[in-house]
Amino acid sequence: MSNANVTILEMQPSDYHDMYELWRSTPGIGLSNADTKENLEKFLDRNKGLSFVCKHEDRLIGTVLCGHDGRRGYIYHAAVAEAYRGKGIGRSLIEKSLEKLKAEGINKCHLFVIADNTSGHHFWTSVGWYKRDDILVYSKDL
Ligand SMILES: CC(C)(COP(=O)(O)OP(=O)(O)OC[C@H]1O[C@@H](n2cnc3c(N)ncnc32)[C@H](O)[C@@H]1OP(=O)(O)O)[C@@H](O)C(=O)NCCC(=O)NCCS
Repeated sequence: MSNANVTILEMQPSDYHDMYELWRSTPGIGLSNADTKENLEKFLDRNKGLSFVCKHEDRLIGTVLCGHDGRRGYIYHAAVAEAYRGKGIGRSLIEKSLEKLKAEGINKCHLFVIADNTSGHHFWTSVGWYKRDDILVYSKDL
């Protein structure tokens, strides 16, 4: 892989098909009805310029979804295709989103990691995030 052919670009609705394939084939990424094309388009529209993809030539090889509610930022679906891992792509994607959050005045970001995703935990620790032991996540279906 030549770095010259690897680019990080703002995520577009037209990336949906390739992103969904990457997420579907990546253990550690949990999919739900929030991930339909229609719902993803709404998310991107509400959170313009915060989510990114990485492409090697025309192939989509990485994603990060990012949004905020005016108070805290949230990151979802950080994924890099297996053959491209360990080259700093995940870190670069996260940095891009955090830079944009900061520019919007958001000074803290949260994310959810599936409890048994050990390599996910290692990644987040390596890129400077800390695990909370003082908070539990509660959810309700509407
Ligand atoms: C997590 C993921 C996005 C990391 O992407 P990546 O491009 O391989 O990560 P990077 O190369 O940018 O790594 C950044 C740092 O994390 C470390 N790291 C990455 N994966 C790691 C792992 N499995 N175990 C230990 N450390 C890891 C790297 O060593 C690097 O640290 P360093 O700079 O100190 O050397 C990728 O492994 C992935 O898609 N995993 C499956 C999906 C997933 O679990 N996503 C997280 C969901 S919450």
